[in-house]
Amino acid sequence: MFDWKEDYSVGVKEIDAQHKRLFEMGQAMSDLVSNHGDEDIYDELTAMFNELIDYTRYHFNDEEKLMEKVNYKDLEDHKVQHQLFVEKLEAYDLETIDEDQGAFALKLLKTVATWIFKHITGDDFRYREAMTALS
Ligand SMILES: [Fe+2]
Repeated sequence: MFDWKEDYSVGVKEIDAQHKRLFEMGQAMSDLVSNHGDEDIYDELTAMFNELIDYTRYHFNDEEKLMEKVNYKDLEDHKVQHQLFVEKLEAYDLETIDEDQGAFALKLLKTVATWIFKHITGDDFRYREAMTALS
């Protein structure tokens, strides 16, 4: 579900590394759900999801700082996209899901994977040219 490819490179090493890390975190959650059998993975899943939200915030912040550095013209709009996604993640409350948490988590992860993919190849790709000023 989360498979980073060279094609997703935005041309900035540290941002690519952070995107890869996000993909890895998503994949680890997806693997946990797929492999859990009858075990209760709920606490682990919630902890991983919270880590994913924290890392997403950290990554967005870093990316925004770099966009600022190169005076990226669409910074404000990009920031809004980041903010909306963080709010979307924060609105999920895994603790309120009583039944079929695994299925719910997979659905949630699919939504996250789709958003990240679209964001990187859409909004993030648009800053690639501006970022060449960094090198
Ligand atoms: Fe972004």
